[in-house]
Parts: sequence; C-alpha cells; structure tokens
Amino acid sequence: MPAADSKPPRAAALPARPLLLALPFLSLLLLYVYSTSPTSTSISTTTATAVPLTPSPPSPHIRMRRSRFSSYDDYLKHQLNKTLDPRLRRVWATRDWRRKVTAFAAAFSSLQREGLLSNTSRALCVGARLGQEVAALRQVGVSDAVGIDLAPAPPLVVKGDFHAQPFADDTFDFEFSNVFDHALYPDRFAGEIERTLRPGGVAVIHVAVHRRGDKYSANDLLDVQGLVGLFRRCDVVRVSKVDAFGLDTEVVLRKKRSAAAHP
Ligand SMILES: *[C@@H]1O[C@H](CO)[C@@H](O)[C@H](O)[C@H]1NC(C)=O
Ligand SMILES: *[C@@H]1O[C@H](CO)[C@@H](O)[C@H](O)[C@H]1NC(C)=O
Repeated sequence: MPAADSKPPRAAALPARPLLLALPFLSLLLLYVYSTSPTSTSISTTTATAVPLTPSPPSPHIRMRRSRFSSYDDYLKHQLNKTLDPRLRRVWATRDWRRKVTAFAAAFSSLQREGLLSNTSRALCVGARLGQEVAALRQVGVSDAVGIDLAPAPPLVVKGDFHAQPFADDTFDFEFSNVFDHALYPDRFAGEIERTLRPGGVAVIHVAVHRRGDKYSANDLLDVQGLVGLFRRCDVVRVSKVDAFGLDTEVVLRKKRSAAAHP
C-alpha cells in the first residue's frame, strides 16, 4: 500500500476557542475513551471534508433521500452515529465477526476461481466499518487489502470518505463495496471507485434492489440499471443474484482499458 494509507487522510480539527478552558478535562476524557474501548476512534471525525459535491443527475432508478440531511456535515454525523455506536461495534467485532468473514471469504474465493481477483491484487473495501471484508480478503490470500470508512478501525480500515477516496488514480486492482445505499451522491461514489481502480481492475458491488433501506440509507435502488449506469468507465462483467446479509444482487464491473472514457 502507499505509505499514506496508514494515516488518516485529513487532519482532524477541533474547534479551538470555546474548548480551550475545557482542554485539560477533554484530553483526560479522550484518554479515557481510548484506553477503555479498543474499537473507539477519534471523536472529531466529522470535520469538513471540502468535497465539491454536485447533486447527481436524477435517475428514474434511484430514489434519493437527501431531504433527510440538512447539510453534508449532518449526513456525515448521521452515518457516524451508526458506525460509532458502541453497542453495534461490539456486535460487529464479536458474534458477527466470524459469520461475516466466513461468508465474505466464500464470495471472494469464488471471484478468485473466476479469475476476477488474485492473491497479488491490491484490494480496497469501500465503507468497510470494522473491516470484516478486509479480513476475509486477507484470509483467502489477498494480503494487500485495506478498507476505508468515515471512522478508522486499525489495522484493517483507514479513515476515508467514499465520496472523496484518499487514494491516487489507478491505485487498486480490485474494489468491493456493500454500502451503496449510504451514498448521498451515488455518481460520486461510483466515480471515485472508477478513479482509483486501475484500467482493467474489477469492482464488485453488492446491493439490494427493490428494498427499503434502513434509517441510515441515503438512497433506494429501484433497478440495478441505476447502479450500472453510474459506472461509465466500466464494462459490466455480470449481474448475479446473491444472498449477502440482506443484499440480493452482485454487480461485477471491469474498468475499461482505454483512457478515452473520461466523462
Ligand atoms: C446517536 O444518536 C443518538 C440519539 O439520536 C445519541 O443518543 C447517541 O449518542 C448518538 N451516538 C453517537 C455515537 O453519536
Ligand atoms: C492464494 O493464497 C491462499 C491463502 O494463502 C492459498 O491457499 C492459495 O493457494 C493462493 N493461490 C495462489 C494461486 O497462489
């Protein structure tokens, strides 16, 4: 991995002035939080991301739920509320862990057999939370695998917003994601995967079609074409049925080798 991957992509800025007096107390509190919870992460992860976002062109296949969020920061806070929920993180790290890693590993093994993923692939999991899918990739032999999420979960997941991936163009051979419904800007979600995927690289996206998302969803995908149509620099390898934790469709895409396809 590039050296920068081991660091959060952006410096987190605490609002300085009003907190000055409370700093000694705050640092104690932070220390306490860090020392008592192995999965806890920096509290100040919702700092401005400076993502120049424009609304996606409306698609008849994607119902946006943008009115749920008053601003981009509000959206990030909302997403982090679930990601940082201590109770959920405990479940993800314990009784959820083996079951999910095993299932992801089976899915990745079958992609290996199809020649869509190899042990030498540089792999990224987009929106990986604690990194079960990253652990699965490493388990099946893909050692250069990492995840991104709004909150880091070392060592498997580094901090990164999927609307502005903290990686250079053409970095990865393989990208996986099952959080498309959390994308506030679906075209940006897809565009960033295409940007960081090398030409010829493979993206595998698990989605639910025709299913209402949870209260953290930012969109509902009504037809798989809504997703496929966003990947203008990719060819569709296949669209298959899967049974993956409430998600029913696996979309496999390959980034075009010609450089001509910049939209
Ligand atoms: C999430 O939101 C609930 C109420 O809306 C709040 O009580 C809780 O502290 C929040 N959790 C995090 C991790 O922000
Ligand atoms: C990939 O790695 C796995 C796990 O280490 C190993 O069992 C498998 O043989 C490797 N595949 C190839 C083609 O080297």
